[in-house]
Amino acid sequence: MTSLWHRAQLICPLCQQSLVAAYPADSKSQISTMSCENRHSFDIGKSGYLHLIPVQNKRSKEPGDNKDMIAARKRFLSKGYYQPISSALNTIITQTMNKPSSDKMISPQQFLDLGCGEGYYTARLKEQINPEHFLLYGMDISKAAIQQAAKRSKDIIWLVANNKQIPMPDQSVDLIFSVFSPIIPKECHRILKPQGLLITATTESKHLLSLRSLIYEEVRDYDNEKLEKQLSSHFNHQAKEVIRHSLSLTQPEDVLDLLQMTPHYWRTNTDKRKQLTALSSLETELVVQLQVFAPRS
Ligand SMILES: C[S@@+](CC[C@H](N)C(=O)[O-])C[C@H]1O[C@@H](n2cnc3c(N)ncnc32)[C@H](O)[C@@H]1O
Repeated sequence: MTSLWHRAQLICPLCQQSLVAAYPADSKSQISTMSCENRHSFDIGKSGYLHLIPVQNKRSKEPGDNKDMIAARKRFLSKGYYQPISSALNTIITQTMNKPSSDKMISPQQFLDLGCGEGYYTARLKEQINPEHFLLYGMDISKAAIQQAAKRSKDIIWLVANNKQIPMPDQSVDLIFSVFSPIIPKECHRILKPQGLLITATTESKHLLSLRSLIYEEVRDYDNEKLEKQLSSHFNHQAKEVIRHSLSLTQPEDVLDLLQMTPHYWRTNTDKRKQLTALSSLETELVVQLQVFAPRS
């Protein structure tokens, strides 16, 4: 079977020409780089991911989520606490793909998990789709995240890249999905096919309310319409579903992992962290909006 890297539709982050998989000079069995016609070359890491952020485009040494955040998220997600989000997301995606009237069945479809983190949602989606018909990409700016993600599956194209400059050609992607990750509307619009879709998972105002009440004197509500407003210049809103689920954390380390994988961690002072670490359990609530957007023509 042709390797994933031969099938990948990627462009060079320096000159935007197509990237082509190249064999190393000494062996025909392995692919080690992707290069463009202008001889810009990018190594595929041993663990099976492609790093597409040239040094000159890096704003910080380690952009994106750091190793500790990634490790906390991996431990927490692997225990299945956020499985209802992943399952609902997979249901929306598979239902949307299977709409008989859609022309999205022309294969292979290109699916992109934008800001995929350590790959929990990407890998669970992979279990639901036929690899003959779909190419699944997981992309994140954090190298630490993609290194962990690459351990989850060899059948996903893992990319270290910036969502401000997604290394994919114009109108080449059928589906972008983003779980709690930053979105640049213009860039998502550029890479989506006219019939493509953007599916997002974002926090609803009551998400983790009891945890936030322990952290902040005054809990501020999230703006439930914020994303829709932010995307409105490039996308039409199509559908919304709210996922509600009780979360019962019975291990103290799970409370700390949940805290550490969210931005709340950085806003929590040492005393509060100590208090939270001392909790033996926590009852809280998962409330997440799944939304579907279609690119404006
Ligand atoms: C809240 S985490 C969500 C990760 C994953 N989707 C999940 O829910 O487990 C946000 C992710 O976006 C990534 N990220 C932040 N800025 C980014 C950028 N400019 N380009 C690509 N990824 C970015 C972070 O490194 C982090 O992994």
